[in-house]
Amino acid sequence: MSLLGRIKPIAPPADDAAHRLRRTLGWPHLIALGVGAIVGTGILTLTGAGAALAGPGVILSFLIAGLVCAAAALAYAELATMIPQSGSAYTYSYVAIGERIAWIVGWSLILEYSVVCSTVAVGWSGYFTGFARGLGWEIPQALAAGPDAGGVINLPAVAIIALVAGLLLIGTRESATLNTVLVALKIAALAMFVWLTLPAFSRAHFSPLMPYGFFQTLGPDGTKRGVMAAASIIFFAFYGFDAVSTAAEEAKDPRRDLTIGIVGSMLACVVIYVFVAASAVGALPFQRFAGSAEPLALVLRSLGHDRAAVLFGAVAVVALPTVILAFLYGQTRIFFVMARDGLLPAALGRVSHRSGVPVAVTIGTALVVAVIAALLPLAEIAALANAGTLCAFVAVGVALLVLRRRDPDRPRGFRAPAAPLVGWVAILGCCYLFLSLPTGTQIRFFLWNAIGLALYFLAARRRAEQPR
Ligand code: ALA
Repeated sequence: MSLLGRIKPIAPPADDAAHRLRRTLGWPHLIALGVGAIVGTGILTLTGAGAALAGPGVILSFLIAGLVCAAAALAYAELATMIPQSGSAYTYSYVAIGERIAWIVGWSLILEYSVVCSTVAVGWSGYFTGFARGLGWEIPQALAAGPDAGGVINLPAVAIIALVAGLLLIGTRESATLNTVLVALKIAALAMFVWLTLPAFSRAHFSPLMPYGFFQTLGPDGTKRGVMAAASIIFFAFYGFDAVSTAAEEAKDPRRDLTIGIVGSMLACVVIYVFVAASAVGALPFQRFAGSAEPLALVLRSLGHDRAAVLFGAVAVVALPTVILAFLYGQTRIFFVMARDGLLPAALGRVSHRSGVPVAVTIGTALVVAVIAALLPLAEIAALANAGTLCAFVAVGVALLVLRRRDPDRPRGFRAPAAPLVGWVAILGCCYLFLSLPTGTQIRFFLWNAIGLALYFLAARRRAEQPR
């Protein structure tokens, strides 16, 4: 027992059927799970928000956010192939640092995973409402937005969460196969975007590259601007690869499949994003799409590709739910492992004998996520999701460095190259991005963790110590 709580030994996964997940996923499924979780609301909407903050230098913001996430991804891949248990950053912190930090990381992951699902559901609802309007089907504002956006309840967001949760209940492999098809559709739409915009590419659109500077500067209205300020927002577009590591106990060949799944999906997305961002900036002066809620469709329309813009919207409606699927899946697995460790009630750790899926926790998570999506504002929940994710990434960087020192000879399916550097880039990069978040978000994040710590000391710690 250390000051930071008990350390969890690295152990093979549970072998009793009630607490074991089925090994049904190969590496193509895991790359698709990763890309499905990464490519979503972020690339579809934040290219505009990022350009408003950084100008053409938004390309650099993509590269920097991608670099920090790539460092975290390498750390995740090493830890996931060394510790063959579900639970992602929570489990790695438990093994490397101790139960108290693991609890904080698990509690932050609960925030990240649930709030990302809600954010993407609200973003999807926006695309769906616009798409339905194009078909002549007007959804009343009261039913299409939460109270902060002038409505009463965001029903499409609730409906899409219910649909995805239903899919997960059918079984992991079935959902992973459908996910693979939808991911291919998303990549095809982005490839179409690059293909159609490249002929309009002009180097003149990149000058001046950084009209608002590199480090944060304050705009006339007091908002933070510059390449780094944009990077802290664009960060949202990059994460999701971490959801792959929550599937550690369901991978057929964890060492090979997890490495390819995590590193492969991350690198694929850095390449895709930089191409998409460069094509958008090269095709139009950035002011034309800066701040737009649908910047990529706007660029296509401005170049006269109206039909392609409609197609792009349709693909967003069909394929965005893969992000919800990956995060809802990851969320249920985090609960599952925390319950199995005794930190959460045991009922949250049961899987169905028939389907091998944790049913109660899937339904419960979907209900909470749906309520958040039905009522809360998108920008705030997205920033909160970033806060939870950044906390987890810092913990993973620390876990990588600690285990390299404490347990250097334990076999790892994958070894992160230049490990100390990679660990430090993840830790310091994420700390910097956390400091760039709005102050209100930082306060809410600390409040969430204060509640979490109170629960830990009042109940969870004692429950975890009881023999099971
Ligand atoms: N990276 C995911 C998205 O952009 C969260 O939707």
